[in-house]
Amino acid sequence: MKVKTFLQYKHQQQAYKIFKSYPNLFTKAELKILREDLKTGDNKSHFKFVAVDKEQVVGFISLATCYATDYSWQVNWLAVHPDFQRLGVGRLLINFLFQKAKKLGLKRLFVETCSCQGEKPARLFYQKHGFKKIARLPDFYARKHSKVIYLKNIVE
Ligand SMILES: CC(C)(COP(=O)(O)OP(=O)(O)OC[C@H]1O[C@@H](n2cnc3c(N)ncnc32)[C@H](O)[C@@H]1OP(=O)(O)O)[C@@H](O)C(=O)NCCC(=O)NCCS
Repeated sequence: MKVKTFLQYKHQQQAYKIFKSYPNLFTKAELKILREDLKTGDNKSHFKFVAVDKEQVVGFISLATCYATDYSWQVNWLAVHPDFQRLGVGRLLINFLFQKAKKLGLKRLFVETCSCQGEKPARLFYQKHGFKKIARLPDFYARKHSKVIYLKNIVE
């Protein structure tokens, strides 16, 4: 398995399908934004990485500035193929992203999650990788679906 930084058209399509396979986690509106994000190449404020196993994309992650600030960055999108869960694909991707963050000289990273049951694996995943819960916006996405924000300080 390897991480690729340049997304060919087929990678974009395969990555999109992974997110689409979680209809309870990603809304149609989010998928629309993702489709546009995937089409655009990397630029100085948005980087995308895919994990590829035997020519097949099995995971996707991206790193971007928060709401067009230059100062704060976030893990923007993350998903691993349902058949490849818990095999270390997410770990491979986030460690790659941490390396990129260090190269960019970033000091901290944010990530936004939902408090819902479906995102429990994601929340545990981020905690395992050093993210600390810093805020909770109650009933943000829907009733009882709060936004939970995590922060990780990048150490040299
Ligand atoms: C979150 C997600 C990306 C994790 O990817 P993954 O490749 O399965 O994770 P890894 O195998 O690299 O796991 C690394 C660690 O994260 C934690 N973790 C991951 N999945 C977990 C789960 N289902 N339950 C508990 N801990 C979990 C564990 O600590 C794990 O280490 P371990 O296996 O040695 O115990 C994956 O579950 C996913 O795609 N979820 C659906 C999409 C999603 O929620 N995206 C994030 C939206 S904010």
